[in-house]
Parts: sequence; C-alpha cells; structure tokens
Amino acid sequence: MSTFKAVRVTQGADKAVAAALVDATIDELGAGEVVIAARFASINYKDALAVTGRGRIMTRFPCIAGIDVAGVVESSTDARFHVGDPVFVNGFGLGVSHDGGFSERVRVPADWVIPVPQGMTLLDVGTMGVAGFTAALAIHLMELNGLAPGGGRVLVNGATGGCGSIGIDMLARRGYEVVALTGKAGSRDYLLDLGAAEVLVRGEFEMGKKALEKAQFAGALDSVGGEQLSWLTRSMTENGVIGAFGNAGGADLATSVFPFILRGVRLIGVNSNAPMAVRQQVWARVATDLRPRHLDRVGFPITLDQVIEHCSRSVEGQVQGRAIVHYG
Ligand SMILES: NC(=O)c1ccc[n+]([C@@H]2O[C@H](COP(=O)([O-])OP(=O)(O)OC[C@H]3O[C@@H](n4cnc5c(N)ncnc54)[C@H](OP(=O)(O)O)[C@@H]3O)[C@@H](O)[C@H]2O)c1
Repeated sequence: MSTFKAVRVTQGADKAVAAALVDATIDELGAGEVVIAARFASINYKDALAVTGRGRIMTRFPCIAGIDVAGVVESSTDARFHVGDPVFVNGFGLGVSHDGGFSERVRVPADWVIPVPQGMTLLDVGTMGVAGFTAALAIHLMELNGLAPGGGRVLVNGATGGCGSIGIDMLARRGYEVVALTGKAGSRDYLLDLGAAEVLVRGEFEMGKKALEKAQFAGALDSVGGEQLSWLTRSMTENGVIGAFGNAGGADLATSVFPFILRGVRLIGVNSNAPMAVRQQVWARVATDLRPRHLDRVGFPITLDQVIEHCSRSVEGQVQGRAIVHYG
C-alpha cells in the first residue's frame, strides 16, 4: 500500500507528548466516507498547543494533528461529494480525536465536509482556516446581537494572530472602524495595511482597575482572554458586544456585574465547532459581505516538514499572520 507524509502525535507512558513526521497509510486514518488530497492546512494556536504538548488538546493517541484542511476529494462513497470537488473541513474532532489536516491524505465522514464557497479558491479557504472562520462566526454572532457598522469603534486583540488579522480585514471591509491591539510594536504597518484605523500596543497604555472604565468600544473580538478581556468588559459603550473565543493570554476572567447591568454589555461566547447550518451561513458571508481583502498578506507558506518547528514559535506568540502548509 502506498504511503504519504503526516505529522503524528503520540503519548508515552509518562504522558509526555511527542510529534514526528511519519509515513502513514490510508488504512491507518480515522474512518470516513470521503478521502481528501490535502492542498492547504493552517497552523492554529490549538495546533501549536497540541503538537508541542503545551496544552491537552488531543483526546486520542496516536493522532495526526491539524484542526483544518482544504483540499480536493480523491474518493467518496457518499453521493454528495465527487472526485475533484474542492472542500474544507474543520472541527468535529479533526486533529483532536480524529486524524487531522497535517497529512497529505485526510479521511473524514461526509457530514463534516463543506464545499468551498463559490468564488473562493482553495488557497483562500485554506488561509482562512479555523482562525478566519472563527473570526467570521464571531462577527456574525455579534451582529445578531446588535453590532452594526457605524455604531462605534471595534477592538481586535491578538491582532497579529490568525483570528485577529483576518478579523481586522473582514471588519474593515464591512465598514467598521477597527482598533487593533497587539503586543508587537513592529507590526503597526501590517495592521494598518489590513484595515485597522488605529493600533494600540500592549504595555503602552493603562487598562485601569475600575469596575467601569472609559466607554470606548461598541464591539470587540477577543482572542486573548484574561486581563485584556476583563478590561474590555469594563470599556464597552452602551450595549457593546464582545465576541470571546480565545485564551492566548490567559483563561481567567475577573470582572463584575456592573458592565452587564449598567451598560448592557453583551459577552458572546464563540465556538468554531458550530452546527453545519451555521457554518454554511457563515461561509456564505465570508464569500460575500465579509470577504477578506488581504489574505495574501496574512498567509505565508510552509512545508509539512516545518510544521513541528513552526508550532514551537507559534505557541510563544511570535508569529505574525498565518502559516499555511502548502502540499505539493
Ligand atoms: N473558540 C474557538 O472555537 C476558537 C477557534 C479558533 C481560535 N480560538 C482561540 O483564539 C485564540 C487565537 O487563535 P489563533 O489561531 O488566531 O492564534 P495565533 O495565530 O497563535 O495568535 C494568537 C495571538 O495572540 C496574541 N498573544 C499571544 N500570547 C499572548 C499573551 N500572553 N498575551 C496577550 N496576547 C497574546 C499574539 O498577538 P499580538 O502579539 O498581536 O497581541 C498572538 O499572535 C487562541 O486562544 C485560540 O485557541 C478559539
């Protein structure tokens, strides 16, 4: 049987996790009706945690890492998909409990597969990946909760990261005034180019300690959690909406009820592992009114054999934009 390359994560008897580039076969992959020849897979924060073992992400070992993949259908026993169809998969356990996208071949249940939206390329969708999809879902949910262009400034933290970069791009395209918050002072031009109107740098301003700080933001996309999310809850304008999906800066949240009962602040949780109907709605928006304009500036190519090293940099928050595995 022919083999292909994949990044597989194993766990030893001492619970230590190790990742390696291995030769795999189709028979070894998680079960499913659709086999995809991978074209692109992105490195997400969660992948970096899984591959480095810095976070307990995987629930099954051994498991091939990679929580998203874009590629073409190589074979399908499900009538909805045909050889050559361009498709995308994320969630449902991909790269967590089911062999994932850091693999030249990926096999998944047909119910997990999303056709690439009309007008978008496989590279567009691969660059979006989980991070871009999550930012789009957050904007979608925030708008369902009252956020609208012209209603005030929207802050995006973890701004140089995957969710942050694509979030800025989509919000600016949609007509929002975007404030980027980053730890990387040297990335100011990158963030302005994506569409930020203003860039704040972590450590260069005070977040304060009051129950209610100056009301500044009508919306916020939060990749970071911890102290920054706490400050955001205290800094929203009346009925301001926060889409919270990340913990790159910490998992704690210290706040009080005052932002919620005195300003009507709405804290919306965002989980990318959304029901299929919601995914389809959000991808349709990504292809139209949310369509990012600068994916080519956000994504940069790496090869499968660079994934493990790249995950180590990513988990330290050192990366600007999104590393995209390009398969041959
Ligand atoms: N809920 C969900 O379904 C879902 C889906 C996707 C992602 N996420 C989460 O969203 C977050 C972002 O994901 P991603 O893939 O965009 O990650 P990423 O590309 O690695 O970006 C994370 C960014 O967060 C900032 N950051 C890192 N360490 C920080 C720290 N200690 N304090 C403050 N900021 C820090 C950095 O940006 P700056 O230097 O510009 O500040 C970094 O580039 C992660 O926590 C991820 O797990 C959740």
